[in-house]
Amino acid sequence: KHVALVFGGNSSEHDVSKRSAENIYNAIMATGKYDVTLFSIAQNGYFLDPDASRRIFEGEDEQMVVDEFMAKVDEKDPLARIKAISQAGQFDIFFPVVHGNLGEDGTLQGLFRLLNKPFVGAPLRGHAVSFDKVLTKELLTVNGIRNTKYIVVSPESVDNWRWSDVKTQLGDIVFVKAANQGSSVGISRVTNELEYQRALQDSFQYDYKVLIEEAVKGPRELEVGVIGNEKPIVSVIGAHTVPNQGDGDAWYDYSNKFVDNSSVLFEIPAKLTPEVTQEVKDMALKAYQVLDLRGEARMDFLLDENGIPYLGEPNTLPGFTNMSLFPRLWDDTNMDNAQLVDELIQLGFA
Ligand code: DAL
Ligand code: MG
Repeated sequence: KHVALVFGGNSSEHDVSKRSAENIYNAIMATGKYDVTLFSIAQNGYFLDPDASRRIFEGEDEQMVVDEFMAKVDEKDPLARIKAISQAGQFDIFFPVVHGNLGEDGTLQGLFRLLNKPFVGAPLRGHAVSFDKVLTKELLTVNGIRNTKYIVVSPESVDNWRWSDVKTQLGDIVFVKAANQGSSVGISRVTNELEYQRALQDSFQYDYKVLIEEAVKGPRELEVGVIGNEKPIVSVIGAHTVPNQGDGDAWYDYSNKFVDNSSVLFEIPAKLTPEVTQEVKDMALKAYQVLDLRGEARMDFLLDENGIPYLGEPNTLPGFTNMSLFPRLWDDTNMDNAQLVDELIQLGFA
């Protein structure tokens, strides 16, 4: 079978995606079962042809390759951005490794559906719902899955929520987040009136729905992998030993800059009581089902100072870099990277 590996994208996680894709590519090769065609999505949103994509993948200067590619593009062609897909020849399945906007919000999955090709990971709906922080919390809440207290504001309702009211409802420290924005963009930690006003202004640049969320006291950050379709399974749980500071590129920049050996960043499996371990795994599996996920996801949790777990956020295209927990959790569970990607491809065909 022939896999089309899609990486890059126009979010700030473009480079993270490249590093994830390298590991996934190596793992697919290690199975000895698949051919791979590469598609890079440039920062400007254009799909590059497989030749240009491979040159970038192999370390050629990305800007040069993209400039060369764009010189041949007829930008007036309404299909110019995705035209390169038609130059790939035959392939059987898409394997998207594009984090953040377009990759993780269902857009790319909609394209795959239009092209009538199977793909690895959740369907459009699961991605779109999980990428929307408000919809995610509402679905978790109605299904009895513990998550932090929150308020949703729109430009029309925001004046009803003065800082003093927010504090009364959610406590002295809150996070303000645009509902539909990945890669830690449009997120602020707020402790006073001035920060509150600035945070709202910032978040409303990205979405007309903004989430205000209570901060968990003394949190430990936990992550757990889930894979499968109708009968998903859960990995061992990992804990961060260094604060993650939100998801996305801030974390990867930090960890790459300051830490050479990612094993010091994580405790795998996390030291937890059997009761908390079970509860986290149950919550992760239940969330996977209510959010309509298939294929793969990583569920992030916060454990408060009393050892109570809160579901933080689902990640429907979890990082696969050398600094990422998802592949390591599965490795520790019983699946090396080659077995894991093979399973994900099989799940995509199923
Ligand atoms: N957004 C990064 C890739 C992650 O959550 O793994
Ligand atoms: Mg995330």
